[in-house]
Amino acid sequence: MKQFNDRDHSIKNRKMLKWGYGALLSALESYEHQSYYPLNSDEHRNKGRYDYQPYSINWFLHHLHDAHQVLKYLRPDEKKKFKFVDIGCGVGTKVKLANALFDAHGIEVWEPYTEVAKELMKKKIVRNHGKIYELKDTNRILVEDATKFENYGNYDILYFFRPLSEPEKEIKLENRIYQQAKPGTIVIPLWHDGDLPEYIRPLSCPSGEIHIKMHSKKKFDALNEWVKENLT
Ligand SMILES: C[S@@+](CC[C@H](N)C(=O)[O-])C[C@H]1O[C@@H](n2cnc3c(N)ncnc32)[C@H](O)[C@@H]1O
Repeated sequence: MKQFNDRDHSIKNRKMLKWGYGALLSALESYEHQSYYPLNSDEHRNKGRYDYQPYSINWFLHHLHDAHQVLKYLRPDEKKKFKFVDIGCGVGTKVKLANALFDAHGIEVWEPYTEVAKELMKKKIVRNHGKIYELKDTNRILVEDATKFENYGNYDILYFFRPLSEPEKEIKLENRIYQQAKPGTIVIPLWHDGDLPEYIRPLSCPSGEIHIKMHSKKKFDALNEWVKENLT
């Protein structure tokens, strides 16, 4: 059995994903359950925004793993950690988990959520194999309206799980995100409303849902062949 590679924070063998992150996953999952109900608000909902409703953290880990492998293949000499953002991050659990692999950030408009997210960022969570996982920098949570945000082009991975409940507004937000993304960005558009533009292309990753912004169909096909052969 291969060992968890702590040096580059990647897990080579997919079967070991849950093992490697087990304690962190269950801690974050219970944090999501605790945070979910007390924070729902009519004021928030009336603005056409979704309440905090967490996406499956187990599936999310698989998406992260796929995205990481694709980016490492595309940019093997990259020295810095790739930058990740959760657009509408709620209480910040996906940011905390993503920070194990990436330089992770979250955008959230509603302050009651951002307060909880900032507290989570400060928490220490113990991993299965005894290591302390820390993320102390509260600046990772940006109190911003995603519909006005202008820096989506600064990230290597853009993730969202349907922030807005009104389809028209959601489609507008999604187009804003796709347009600003730089070529080569991984996009994980979960439960999106609009049609994806042609240049946001779906990769055949095992977890599904992983897209890349790529204008050249030829280059995309070559990358997707690599994905099919190498990502298991
Ligand atoms: C369905 S939850 C997704 C939570 C988290 N991203 C996940 O995957 O588990 C949608 C989140 O988007 C936030 N949101 C809604 N409108 C927003 C906006 N305009 N700007 C930033 N965040 C927003 C909501 O407050 C909520 O926390």
